[in-house]
Amino acid sequence: MCGITGYTGVNQAGPILLDGLKRLEYRGYDSAGIAVRGDDGIKMLKATGKVSHLVEKYNETPDFLGVCGIGHTRWATHGIPNDTNAHPHLSADGKFAVVHNGIIENFAEIRSELQKYGIEFKSETDTEVIVQLLAYNYNGNFKLALMKTIARLEGSYAIGVISADHPGTIYAAKLSSPLIIGLGIGENFFASDITALVNNTKNVIDMDDGEVAEITPDGVKFFDHAGREINKDIRHITWDVAAAEKSGYEHFMLKEIMEQPQALKATIEPRVKDAEEIVLEELKNLDMKRFNRIHITACGSAYHAGCVGRGILEALCRVPVEAEVASELRYRDPIMDAKTLVIVISQSGETADTIAAMKECRSKGATLLAIVNVVGSSIAKLADYCLYTWAGPEIAVATTKGYTTQVVLLAMFAVWAAGEMKTISRGAYISLVKDIIRLPERAQRALDLNSRVKTMAERYNSNSSLFFIGRNMDYAVALEGSLKLKEISYIHSEAYAAGELKHGTIALIEPGRLVVALCCYEKLLDKTISNIQQVKARGARVLAVAHEGNRSIFREADDVLTVPVTDPLLVPVIEIIPLQLFAYYVAKLNGCDIDKPKNLAKSVTVE
Ligand code: F6R
Repeated sequence: MCGITGYTGVNQAGPILLDGLKRLEYRGYDSAGIAVRGDDGIKMLKATGKVSHLVEKYNETPDFLGVCGIGHTRWATHGIPNDTNAHPHLSADGKFAVVHNGIIENFAEIRSELQKYGIEFKSETDTEVIVQLLAYNYNGNFKLALMKTIARLEGSYAIGVISADHPGTIYAAKLSSPLIIGLGIGENFFASDITALVNNTKNVIDMDDGEVAEITPDGVKFFDHAGREINKDIRHITWDVAAAEKSGYEHFMLKEIMEQPQALKATIEPRVKDAEEIVLEELKNLDMKRFNRIHITACGSAYHAGCVGRGILEALCRVPVEAEVASELRYRDPIMDAKTLVIVISQSGETADTIAAMKECRSKGATLLAIVNVVGSSIAKLADYCLYTWAGPEIAVATTKGYTTQVVLLAMFAVWAAGEMKTISRGAYISLVKDIIRLPERAQRALDLNSRVKTMAERYNSNSSLFFIGRNMDYAVALEGSLKLKEISYIHSEAYAAGELKHGTIALIEPGRLVVALCCYEKLLDKTISNIQQVKARGARVLAVAHEGNRSIFREADDVLTVPVTDPLLVPVIEIIPLQLFAYYVAKLNGCDIDKPKNLAKSVTVE
């Protein structure tokens, strides 16, 4: 969703802000803008559509000069995407400009109050009230005016503000929306997301809710909600610019698919001792024997990872496990208590529905364990315990390495928990750990299917609607394979539990309809094969994904992709890889904007 960034130093702010905005593009947006404090006050540039349009405008405006500024990519919530509604927003007196992520819930009330004082609003946005209220509260003290302003705001915000009266100073503030300060030498930065900063600095400070930062070229001061100065820890980012760039791949999505062996290694290796023990340092105070049930909640692909996790946890820990999308759980008044462990899964760590579901579960006394990729994100902070996937930055909107690392971390947690709860034999424990260690190498072998999957995409890309079918773990993978295809290629597909087809949906099977049959969960292979025969008998074409060495499937399916054999509980980590590649190549053949699919955002921070 929206992204914000800011710079103050000795260099021209324009190019730095535009570079930051380009790096934030992956989050999804429909307009963009920047503002700088120039010699004669605040100047602004805005453009509807891509950041490249804003760059063109900047290149045509040679006097857009200033060494302190703010920038924004907007994903419209209040008001259509146009230049007026694009951020930054300027106060009516021209003294302040603001960029904002989040939603001000009481904006209508503040706006009508300010309108009574004769203040005129230009845009339809909730954000404009922030800057108008700030100007109204201002009597020469920038910080005081800001503190007074944010005390009135309800909802969520990460904001950056510049002032015509205070050259070189930016104030930033946060509530329930991510905000990071970047530290340089003689220059400092802020952004909603590390990817916007990584080209400029590796030293960052995570802001917490209610805090305000005063950013100048010489340093950054932090204040709590009452305006008292506080100290904050510096965090050193370990990944480099290349990790946030395409490294020669045509799309981030392909790069991230190909990175999965390394990402899996980063998730697994630091947590395995002597090739047979799972060590989860982060959970050393978590007593698994306290829990008599587990709930898993998340959205989209992270929920699909949760569906895999449910199967693994139930199989190994023998406790009831439920998996539910967060947007439903949050409003369902779920039955849970202090004996419930809630596992929340999120790549970004900022998904609004997931955060709301966490709050609901906490209010019922449950313990919250988060599985998150983005370090220091809201979900990581809100949870009682957090396991990071350490997959590195994921830029493409469609998650790939985010999903596989979530699944493997859930599997590691399940093995560890079963060890703690004494529901697994030592032999089974060691055998699973050994299989987990081999996943990166097996993922690499699955990636070797690349050119064959491309051929399959060429063969089947004209299908306008298709099915993914499977049983047990294969069904969980079908859900994710279908979502991948839908979201980036815009082709309709549906995931079905293979045994359920005959209860209605089989009516849609007609000659030439493609059915992708997932056949790696071998315990139920015979059953899936009979479902394949049912759809073949009605004229469907079947593309199967099966384990290497499975000969029978070649007699049943029209085409087969074979992946390395792994433990039945770990099947999804490997089996999803050809489906990610299939979605990628189909989308490419159909000319889709793969890294930024229409209507989607990387980080879904609104309900
Ligand atoms: C699909 C996708 C989304 C996310 C979902 C949750 O490829 O990426 O379905 O999985 O929006 O996002 P996170 O994991 O950031 O909470």
